Amino acid sequence: MKKTELLYEGKAKKVFSTEEKEILIVSYKDDATAFNGEKKGTIEGKGVVNNRMANHVFKLLEKNGIPTHLIEELSDRETAVKKVNIIPLEVIVRNIAAGSFSKKLGIAEGTKLLEPTLEFSYKNDALGDPLINDYYAIAIGLATREEIQTITEYAFKINDIIKEYFLKANMELVDFKIEFGRLEDKTIILADEISPDTCRLWDVNTHEKLDKDRFRRDLGNVVEAYNEVFNRLGL
Ligand code: TMP
Repeated sequence: MKKTELLYEGKAKKVFSTEEKEILIVSYKDDATAFNGEKKGTIEGKGVVNNRMANHVFKLLEKNGIPTHLIEELSDRETAVKKVNIIPLEVIVRNIAAGSFSKKLGIAEGTKLLEPTLEFSYKNDALGDPLINDYYAIAIGLATREEIQTITEYAFKINDIIKEYFLKANMELVDFKIEFGRLEDKTIILADEISPDTCRLWDVNTHEKLDKDRFRRDLGNVVEAYNEVFNRLGL
């Protein structure tokens, strides 16, 4: 598989076309941003951790009946994936209150939720990814009612699978963000990544943060946290 052209450079990944129309190559960078790109930095080795971890998790999800874009890991930073039209929704599942949820609702970080929750943000940098609901998503044509239903079912099932997976490595899955895409035949599959950039992971015993919040909140030991996750998962 060979890269032909750089199609898109995002905040954390580059996407290349290949000789095959339906296959793309993603290349994970060490660049990190937060607060809609306002804060910028580099986390050495992050691209390798995120590539490996996303592929590992996606394989586990495939085994459990969740279709994903993963085709094949090509190197420590590069992966061949199925080309999709990304549905412009950030799908966020939460098990424990943290981040924007805690701020908005005045509920202390670390408070266990009585059941997992799900929310949508409209993926739109110019608008700052505003929180929307399923009715908005359908009304403005981001996804159909059937697609929202599929996405919701997949999101909660993914939560069940990866919550258990991280717990085996002594990490609590606080919350995470996922994105879905449509294949040409309109099948919905999981795309983007699942990594410490897109999950909150806390040590089960000490509640130490082992994710991108260390960068967002200037907590220090950012590279160490990514490496800790990498090692705990045996990647
Ligand atoms: P939040 O509490 O800031 O809304 O974040 C919820 C989850 O989504 C958290 O695991 C971090 C992840 N996330 C992203 O992956 N990308 C983003 O742009 C934001 C704001 C959050």
